This record gives sequence, structure tokens and C-alpha cells, in this order.
Amino acid sequence: MKLGQRLQTIAGMVPAGVTMADIGTDHAYLPIYLVKEKIVARAIAGDVHHGPYLSAQNAVAAAQLEQYISVRLGNGLAVLQPGEADVVVIAGMGGANIIAILQACPDITSLVQRLILQPMIAAAPVRLWLHTQGWQIVDEQLVQEEGKLYQIIAAEPGAGPLDDQSLYEIGPRLWQSRHPLLRLHINELISQRRAVLLAMGGSDDAVKSAKYREYTRKLNALEEKLLCL
Ligand SMILES: C[S@@+](CC[C@H](N)C(=O)[O-])C[C@H]1O[C@@H](n2cnc3c(N)ncnc32)[C@H](O)[C@@H]1O
Repeated sequence: MKLGQRLQTIAGMVPAGVTMADIGTDHAYLPIYLVKEKIVARAIAGDVHHGPYLSAQNAVAAAQLEQYISVRLGNGLAVLQPGEADVVVIAGMGGANIIAILQACPDITSLVQRLILQPMIAAAPVRLWLHTQGWQIVDEQLVQEEGKLYQIIAAEPGAGPLDDQSLYEIGPRLWQSRHPLLRLHINELISQRRAVLLAMGGSDDAVKSAKYREYTRKLNALEEKLLCL
């Protein structure tokens, strides 16, 4: 079974031998791959919507892996018992939804050994949430697939906020490792900030607002980072 590069990279961040849960699994490609490749012996595939849940069930049955992959219908981490999954993957959702899922079941989240998160948007609030809730980012990857750049964040229990605020946006491990796609990533962040500031520039009130000053400061910080590369 061949995964796309995004899911393949996520699979590469799952340690061997763990029990993993794929929350928002949809087609269950990731748990099927991990079990087929004998990277994990057991997985849980959860989804809140009936269609994706059925599609996961069918895919697991077609692969004859029902014994190893438990497909469950339910909201976020509520499909898990506390301590049941060592590693939780939440991929392909917005950052706000990912944070809501992690916050909704503290008894389950607190017993997870590794989170692997792939926010489609709003990665900075996810990093901020992790660092304020006792998680440290231990690995980060960027993947370019079909012209789109994806950020993948792995976190484990550990303390400490980031000294440099711009790293919540960029990603501390992406910066530290000077990831090969880092320049492209920072340029994308700069373009997004410029577009927001340009839109706000149409209103005098918006230009005078604290938000405008904050966004300008963040844009300057990103531009400075780019100069350091
Ligand atoms: C775009 S798909 C991503 C599928 C897969 N994780 C991937 O990255 O390719 C998002 C999936 O998350 C599910 N989802 C959204 N919110 C959820 C929640 N609170 N709990 C469980 N699943 C959720 C949706 O039903 C959908 O199947």
C-alpha cells in the first residue's frame, strides 16, 4: 500500500510498537498502512461522521485487518479509554478543531505519550496551545504535495514556552533543523500576513487598531527571520 507524501511523513513519525489512534481517520489509510507494514500491532481509527466511519470500516474489512484495527464512531478522543493509545494522530483538520479535540478530554490527552498533529490552517495557535499545556515540540516536518505545503508537528509531554514568539508561527524544530522547505514556508507565512494587512489597509479604523500593529510586528519578525537564513 502506497501513501501520499503527507501521510507517509506522518507514518514516519509514529514510533514502532505503539498503539496508535488516528482521530478523524476518514479512509483509515494511515492505520491500515501502519499495521500492514508491521510498524504497529494495534490501532484505533475514529471519526465523528457516519460516512467516513463507514468508509474506514469498509477499508479495514477489505484489508482483513478487523482484528488489529478498531474502527469507532465518535467525537475526537471520546472514542478512547484513558491510556488506551500511546500515540494520537490528528491530521487534515483546522487548528481550532484540533485544539478543541485535545481540550475536550483532558483525562485521555494527559496519558498520551506522543501527539502527531497536522493542522491545515492555524498551526501557530496549536503550537501555542501545546507549549502552554505541558507539551514540547520534539519534531516537525514540512511536506509539499500537489503544490500545497503541509506542517506536521510531533509533541511529547514536557515543559517550557518558546522564547522567540515568531517560532510559534514558523515552528521551533523547522527553524532549528533549517528544514529544506523552510524558506518557502516562511515566504508563505509572509504572503499571508501581507494579504491580511493589505485588506485591513482599506479601513482607517483597522489601520489604527491594536490588531494591525500586532500583525505588522509579526510580519516584521518573519521578514527578519528570513534574513537570518
Ligand atoms: C479531511 S479528513 C482527514 C482524513 C485523514 N486524517 C487525513 O489526514 O488524510 C478530516 C476528517 O476528520 C473528521 N473529523 C472532524 N472533526 C472530528 C472530530 N471532532 N472527531 C473525529 N473526527 C473528526 C471528519 O469527519 C473527516 O473524516
